[in-house]
Amino acid sequence: MSASLRISPLTSVLGARIEGVSLADSLEDATLRAIRAALIEHLVLVFPGQRLDAEQQHAFASRLGRPEPHPVTRHLGGDATIVRIDNDLIAPPDLAALPHLDHLAVHGAWHTDYTFNPEIPTFATLRAEIVPPVGGDTSWASTVEAYDTLSPRMKGWLEELEAVHWHGPHFARNFGIEKQGPEAVARFEAAFPPHRHPVVIRHPESGRRALFVNPSYTVRLEGLEPGEGEALLAFLFRHMTQPRFQLRHHWSPDDLVAWDERSTIHLAPTDFQPHRRRLIRVAVGSEAPGAA
Ligand code: SIN
Repeated sequence: MSASLRISPLTSVLGARIEGVSLADSLEDATLRAIRAALIEHLVLVFPGQRLDAEQQHAFASRLGRPEPHPVTRHLGGDATIVRIDNDLIAPPDLAALPHLDHLAVHGAWHTDYTFNPEIPTFATLRAEIVPPVGGDTSWASTVEAYDTLSPRMKGWLEELEAVHWHGPHFARNFGIEKQGPEAVARFEAAFPPHRHPVVIRHPESGRRALFVNPSYTVRLEGLEPGEGEALLAFLFRHMTQPRFQLRHHWSPDDLVAWDERSTIHLAPTDFQPHRRRLIRVAVGSEAPGAA
């Protein structure tokens, strides 16, 4: 490990604070390996006080994997891999238009990024540029810990199941596709049909199993009656979003957080309006979650 890297766990299930490294510098391979190993072990890494611009964040993230545009951005012909999450630019989602309102109302919009797609990012990074005076925290939950705490019988049963993931109608609206007319919406729907993933996946690096459903995009379980699937999903969403599996991060300017998408879900806040909040996001890698 790099001599000066300090790794301090933030909870006993996920999250670590990393100090003693400047991500603006070109990192030695040994330091990079230590950061990557910490990411696999702790799932979410908080690097406080990193004075970076978006290009430097992109350069750091690209050491962890190839920066990837959001698949819907790519579908629309874009290739941006630096994304500004800024409530000055983005209208808040219309909750009434969201498809799985019951789950979202009860469990919040917890998600792993774009699981409606065959592939998800490997890692993602967020860096705070403008922090609101109140609220604005991001939360992560460990899906490996959520899996580990199930009974052996439930684990075995879930490992045989697949779930259908779907983006819902809000993406066509949020990405401005609706404004381009019905043909553009039809092309978008054809490009992103409902997609099946295993309910339990195996992390390709740690080998740990993780639950792979989320209240934002998982719409049903294959092979079950609708009432059965609905009840089981409601249980899983309640189980995996318990505070005991969570890390909640209160942002300061220049914080950079990196996380492993294959073993976490996260929740963006809605409690800071009308204040401004701007975070810069770079996601890297693209992989199909593998069955356990
Ligand atoms: C996201 O869901 O990736 C955004 C998280 C945030 O804005 O805190």
